[in-house]
Amino acid sequence: MKLANRISRISVSKTMAVMEAALKLREQGLDVVDFGPGEPDFPTPENIKQAGIRAIEGDFTKYTAIGGIKELKKAIVEKHARDFGSKYDLPECIVNFGGKHALFNVFSSVVDEGEDVVIPTPYWVTFADIARFVNANPVFVHTTESEGFRLTADLLERSLTPRTRMVVVNSPNNPSGAVLDDEEFGRIGKLCRDRDIYLLSDECYSHFLYDGRKPFSIAGHQELKSHVIIAGSVSKTYAMTGWRIGYVLAMPEIVQSCVKLQSHSTSNPTSISQKAALEALSGPQQSVGVMLAEYAKRRKFVVDRLRAIPGVRCAEPGGAFYAYPNISAAFGRGGIRDSVDFSARLLEKAHVAVTPGEAFGTTDHVRISYATSMELLDKGLNRIREFMAGL
Ligand SMILES: Cc1ncc(COP(=O)(O)O)c(C=O)c1O
Repeated sequence: MKLANRISRISVSKTMAVMEAALKLREQGLDVVDFGPGEPDFPTPENIKQAGIRAIEGDFTKYTAIGGIKELKKAIVEKHARDFGSKYDLPECIVNFGGKHALFNVFSSVVDEGEDVVIPTPYWVTFADIARFVNANPVFVHTTESEGFRLTADLLERSLTPRTRMVVVNSPNNPSGAVLDDEEFGRIGKLCRDRDIYLLSDECYSHFLYDGRKPFSIAGHQELKSHVIIAGSVSKTYAMTGWRIGYVLAMPEIVQSCVKLQSHSTSNPTSISQKAALEALSGPQQSVGVMLAEYAKRRKFVVDRLRAIPGVRCAEPGGAFYAYPNISAAFGRGGIRDSVDFSARLLEKAHVAVTPGEAFGTTDHVRISYATSMELLDKGLNRIREFMAGL
């Protein structure tokens, strides 16, 4: 069948493939420990759920303004200003159907066919596929495990070309948990501005930082505003993945372009979810601290246990809820050639689902999501240790 070229350039998210394989084994009645999902295991906090219920009961169930209701946009820009010292007005904010949709609108609005989009590895798989979808070239800058997978302005500068239109930074990072040093992030922003390149910062894990580190946004550097684009989401911070609310903060022309696109594609994000997101951003914030404290405990547990497995190395994740261990010591043993083989064999033999590094542009790692209970982490990590010992 003849399909459009643009759809042939992309593939179904590799992270979804793991979820499907794990699901199949579960359907056969097997006890699978699933470290695949990139979503909080906590329920959406009660005050947020109640706001959604009130919206339904109050008949707030019709179309809204395409770019989101004014109160929500106000809550987004005010919270961003409080947390990060940014300064955006309402015409510089649009509400979308989640962070993924925010990114899609931004790529569609600012990147032309044939241009380069620089993406540091390891990267969240969707960045590269959206670049391909808009017929741009994803250009990968390789960060190193020994440097904690952190991008630097020097590394970035070497990969810029006259065709570079945008650089995508995701800190804290999915899959490595790497957090950019605030000063280095500033240098990266300055480099982008001086070269007239957009810096798209995906902040969806911005509030999940460990060791007492304060959340940071490049938008706090107001002098860089002309070139900074923020893609945010309530999905992870408030355990609201199913509600589908994200946002873009950027120069008014970019936001207007996103509104234009949205006016012909999705129209407004779901009215009920907008009310829930309004409560999330402007209501009590205790639930975020509770979730962060639990993730912090799990992070230590997972990293310590991984490092105790002979041959496994694991860089310290500074944020998000993923560990990205190097499992290349298993290559060449038991017929395992790469991280795809490793993940497939681990699932088949030990019934533990992890995501192979190939999905994120590196070959020696697997991603372990610790957005799951301590009990399951314990069980799954024991199985990984035994699996590796038996190779
Ligand atoms: C780096 C990154 N950005 C954006 C998203 C999108 O999340 P959502 O569309 O639920 O806001 C995710 C989800 O996994 C992610 O990991």
